[in-house]
Amino acid sequence: MNLCGAHLLSIAQFGNLSDLRQIFDVARELEVYARRERVTRVLEGAVMASLFFEPSTRTRISFESAFALLGGTVTSTTGFTFSSMAKGESIYDTSRVISGYADVMVVRHPEVGSVAAFADASSVPVINAGDGPGEHPTQALLDLYTIMKERRCELEDVDGITIAMIGDLKHGRTVHSLTKLLSLFKKISFRFVSPAELAMPEYILEMLRERGHEVFITENLPEGVAGADVIYMTRIQEERFASVEDYQRHRGCYTVSRDVFSRFCKPEAIILHPLPRDSRPGSNEIDVDLNDHSQLAIFRQTDNGIPIRMALFTLALGVSDQIHRDSRPV
Ligand code: CP
Repeated sequence: MNLCGAHLLSIAQFGNLSDLRQIFDVARELEVYARRERVTRVLEGAVMASLFFEPSTRTRISFESAFALLGGTVTSTTGFTFSSMAKGESIYDTSRVISGYADVMVVRHPEVGSVAAFADASSVPVINAGDGPGEHPTQALLDLYTIMKERRCELEDVDGITIAMIGDLKHGRTVHSLTKLLSLFKKISFRFVSPAELAMPEYILEMLRERGHEVFITENLPEGVAGADVIYMTRIQEERFASVEDYQRHRGCYTVSRDVFSRFCKPEAIILHPLPRDSRPGSNEIDVDLNDHSQLAIFRQTDNGIPIRMALFTLALGVSDQIHRDSRPV
């Protein structure tokens, strides 16, 4: 798969593990720059437009940092209020205009399919940073990269793992993308833990069964995490519910705490979460008593967003073979 000049909108674009290997190989090469131990200017002169029409902390900041660490310049707009979309400008016009100013666009938008609409109108690569409850493909890539790093294994050795995904599997775009990504392996054991109303969409379950993966569905947390190598917690997505009452019924439905982990999980299991975790009273999907637990990998996971997003930029802009040219120590 040639990523040069290509949009990245959905995990469905990846057909096999080789498509992923090039991204992870480049990300590994970029680790030294991501850690700010060496400097590369491979994207000097290039401009990235960062368009976030929904709240974000780590996706926006890590995309922008990744581009800056490659020597490029970032221009951004956040929220609808500060773009001319507030005056009724269409996605088509916005995208046409911005693709005249930038070499790559990173877009987050609350509607499923909206980032694809940006791509349709753009003459430069567009990267989906989350389209409503649709997909978040770069999060899935950094999640898989984290699983490889935590297990100290190569891509193909991820095959055969058991992953428990817990929480709001209906609205959570990260679990949709990660499930699609893991479905590229020969056999993964998926354990989906959610209230029935927040279950993984049926089309994804069907796809997993068609591809021969194991699927176990439960509402019970201890049952769901049993035997899992990866515990992937998610937030109940307040902003996607039709009513406050619906949200309140599910709020705080699952918490993994130190006690839950020691009683029901494999000691070597790793705990991931795309973040943000909701730490308001009554929520708490990962208890703070796990904060210094060695198996809690959530902050190593967020760090991995930098090399993955750097890799995607160098591949999309066709400079992945020039990363070390003129590089120097900090
Ligand atoms: N994981 C993630 O998408 O986080 P943000 O919403 O903070 O970008």
